[in-house]
Parts: sequence; C-alpha cells; structure tokens
Amino acid sequence: MSHQTPATDRPLTTALAEAAATAGHAPSVHNTQPWRWRVLPDALELRVVRDRQLTAADPEGRLLALSCGAALHHVRVALAAEGWTAVVERLSDPQQPDLLARLTGLDRSGADPDAMRLVQCMQVRHTDRRPVSDEPVPAEAIDDITRAADDEGSRLQILDADQVMELAATASHAGTVEAEDPQTREELQYWTHRAGTGTGLPPEVLPQDQPQTTVPARDFGSPGNLPVGPGHDKAAVYGLLYGDEDEPDSWLRAGEALSALWLTATRHGASVVPLSGVVEVPGTRQKLRQLLSGLGYPYLVLRIGLTDPAHAGPPHTPRLPAAQVVDTSAVRDQRA
Ligand SMILES: Cc1cc2nc3c(=O)[nH]c(=O)nc-3n(C[C@H](O)[C@H](O)[C@H](O)COP(=O)(O)O)c2cc1C
Repeated sequence: MSHQTPATDRPLTTALAEAAATAGHAPSVHNTQPWRWRVLPDALELRVVRDRQLTAADPEGRLLALSCGAALHHVRVALAAEGWTAVVERLSDPQQPDLLARLTGLDRSGADPDAMRLVQCMQVRHTDRRPVSDEPVPAEAIDDITRAADDEGSRLQILDADQVMELAATASHAGTVEAEDPQTREELQYWTHRAGTGTGLPPEVLPQDQPQTTVPARDFGSPGNLPVGPGHDKAAVYGLLYGDEDEPDSWLRAGEALSALWLTATRHGASVVPLSGVVEVPGTRQKLRQLLSGLGYPYLVLRIGLTDPAHAGPPHTPRLPAAQVVDTSAVRDQRA
C-alpha cells in the first residue's frame, strides 16, 4: 500500500513551486510565456520577462500583461485545488515595474473541488486554430463562459450578426496593416521558427491553409502542418473581452478573466481562439471601441466554437521547463 503525503501536509514552499510550474500551462501570445515566478518562504512573486515582449506588435505591453494575468489565474486555481487560500496583491510599484503580483497570507483550507476540475482543464486546454464545426455552442456554455469573465472583473460582450460582419472587416484590415509592417513580419517569423526552445509556435499547431472563414484568423506568414478540413466559422460565437480601464493593471486582470473563461469553455468542450491582431493595430482597436459604443476598452477578441471531434486536433504547444520559469533559490533548503 502506498502512503502519499496529503497535499496539505506538504511544505508551503513545495506547494508554491508546484503551483507555479502548473501555471506553465497558461496561454500566452505567440507562446512567449513572458513570466517568471519567485518562491519565497511565505509568498510567491510574479515578474514579467520583458525580453519576451512583442516589441513590434505589442509595444505597450497589453498582450504581455494579459498573458501574465492568465498565468496568475492558473496559479491561483492550482493553489486552491491543493487546499491553499492566498491574498493576491496586484502591484504597480514604479520602483519595481517588473513585479506584477505577490501572493501572501497563504493558509490551509479544504481542497476546492471546482478548482480541481479546472486544473484538469488546464492540462487539456489548447488553442485549436481549425475552423469550428457546424454544431452551435450550447447557450448554457456561453452563459457560464461570460460569467467566468465577469467574476474576474472583466466583461465579455457576445457580438451580434452585424457586429460580426464589422469585426470581419476590421480583422481583415488589421491583417493587411500587420502584413505590410516589416518589423511585425520579422517578429512573427522569429516566434514561428523557434523549434526546440520551449517557446513560440511549432508548425504542427499552425494551419496548413488559411481557413475560409467570415472573420479572418491571424495569418502567421508561413503555412504550418495542421490540416484544416472543410469547416467554416458560421456556428462560431465571437466575443469581445473588455473593461472600464486601459491600464496595465486592468490588462493583468483581463488576463485572469481570459484564463477563467477559457478553462470554463474547456470544461464545456468548447474551443477558444484569441484574435489579437485587431487589438494590436491602434486604428482597429479604436474600431472595436466603437463596437462597444464607447462603454469600455477592448482587450481581446475571442472566437468560441466546437471543433470537429472526429479528427485529431493539434498537439500541445511546448513549454519552457519549470526550472527556467520558477526560481526557488530563496527557499532551496526548505523544500521537501
Ligand atoms: C493574449 C493572447 C493573445 C493571443 N493571440 C492569438 C492570435 O491572435 N491568434 C492565435 O491563433 N492565437 C493567439 N493566442 C493563442 C496563443 O498562441 C497560445 O495560447 C500559445 O501559443 C500557447 O498554446 P496553447 O494555447 O495551445 O497552450 C493568444 C493567446 C493570448 C494569451
């Protein structure tokens, strides 16, 4: 008979290091994984890694912060699943601009079964860029996905048919602007040719041909190996993640909402694909603001749909090894 140490009997520093490693599953723009964790005796710190910022497509760091926010939500869920509660401080200290958040006040509680289910979703969630099937996403799933974003302090507006047509024209324009910009092209080339590094996008996850969809997906510049099949995006739902402010701390929060809604979608068997080109180009981001009738600031456009269950989707995109992302040097002697 095996005697496993109950999760809550393990030292706190081990739990923090493991949760930070689990957060490596979080989605990030171009799989840049622009975060680093520091485990302290009684706290966990999240820092941004600006070396992996998209300086051409994302000079303000909006998608950088969204990606870090997704990792922050993953860590919160991973800790809750292991029976830890934490106080999350989201920081904007001009003396330490790279320090984004600190989790303190860690205390034992019962393992949270909802969080345990979401951790399972983290392990299977991935970006499937194939066209969606003709099967609509159930209304109940859309309600849950929207609520998950709300609960994290951002909002998800589901676009109506006219707004989707406007989005299609806007996304097409953003694609043209980015294709004509040599620095954005070069940056895309860099992040799509990073085999074996644990970052970036391998050809296996990128479509062989540009899918024939109403709203154009991001054109990655060179074809991948992923067969796309005959589908369209007619049954897809398009949503706009937005909020009241357009500041780095609201982008971090929006990343937490993105993670929450994406894991909820995964639980419902729905696939989410972010379309960030429209947010990267200032003119098209302004158009999105008009779509919201000025009610808020757009953070990210999302396609939500069901993908073809009969054909295997893309493999998982590689990640950096935990040792490169989680710094345990301050607690090395305290870990089990
Ligand atoms: C802020 C953000 C923006 C993204 N933008 C796009 C996009 O425009 N097009 C796309 O196909 N995927 C986009 N993605 C998905 C990432 O490429 C994907 O999360 C990353 O490659 C890791 O792969 P995975 O989601 O399969 O784990 C985005 C993800 C995030 C978090």
